[in-house]
Amino acid sequence: MARRLARPVGITATGQHYPERVVTNDDLSAIMDTSDEWIRPRTGIGSRRWVEPGQGASDLAVPALQMALDRRGMKAEELEVIIIATVTPDTLFPATACRVQQRIGATNAFGFDLSAACSGFLYALTTGAGLIASGAYSRVAVVGVDVMSSIINMEDRTTAVLFGDGAGAVILEQVEEGFGILDFEHRINGEGGCFLYMPAGARPSPPPARPWRPRSTSFTRRAPMSSSGQSGRWRRAAASCWTATASPARS
Ligand SMILES: CC(C)(COP(=O)(O)OP(=O)(O)OC[C@H]1O[C@@H](n2cnc3c(N)ncnc32)[C@H](O)[C@@H]1OP(=O)(O)O)[C@@H](O)C(=O)NCCC(=O)NCCS
Repeated sequence: MARRLARPVGITATGQHYPERVVTNDDLSAIMDTSDEWIRPRTGIGSRRWVEPGQGASDLAVPALQMALDRRGMKAEELEVIIIATVTPDTLFPATACRVQQRIGATNAFGFDLSAACSGFLYALTTGAGLIASGAYSRVAVVGVDVMSSIINMEDRTTAVLFGDGAGAVILEQVEEGFGILDFEHRINGEGGCFLYMPAGARPSPPPARPWRPRSTSFTRRAPMSSSGQSGRWRRAAASCWTATASPARS
């Protein structure tokens, strides 16, 4: 069911930032068993950007948001909310939103991180828009940022070739009727969660299905993913996967 905002809210400025370092498909084929001939036709990817060691999500988010503010002619102090959509925060807490708030000088904002992987920016966008549509806030910044190179499992070529690093920022404000976000629809499906995950939370992690030694923050696939993801085989695999990873309550 399509949802509608109670007031029209839209994007009034955008900004972006990505690292200098370009990693081509040929660069990857030098360190893993893959090739430009395999990657490009299947994914459309010719190269991706990776941060230099030591750079984190806030290092990309701050210049992206600053660009959006500059383009809008808005001061950081005018921001009321900062939402950072990321699965690779600088730290689990404080939120990366706190680091961005402090570094950008948004002294009147509150903020938080929103974790929803590929869907993160869209969820953050409508969450931020909802805060404005409620009438409580007028100027919200939403940044989608990830440093996927920090968690890539280089022993899994089916995912390692897909991900890069970068940030995109938008400013949200009330707009004229008929403009902005007209409607939206969100749903999640937790069935596939065990196929691709990052074991960095407080729950005891299941053992990886493949014989590789993960770094504590690497993410892993536990079973093949297929483009026909809703097949019966996939559903059965998902059900047994969750069963296998259920952990006893802690005493
Ligand atoms: C990218 C993708 C869609 C391509 O699908 P596909 O064309 O059906 O390819 P498959 O993954 O089934 O792999 C086909 C073959 O290519 C091989 N292959 C996989 N990745 C490869 C790579 N990067 N380079 C070379 N060969 C590769 C596989 O090992 C397999 O070989 P096999 O037949 O000898 O076993 C698929 O690999 C995929 O779904 N990857 C994970 C996507 C993902 O993680 N999405 C979540 C994003 S949030």
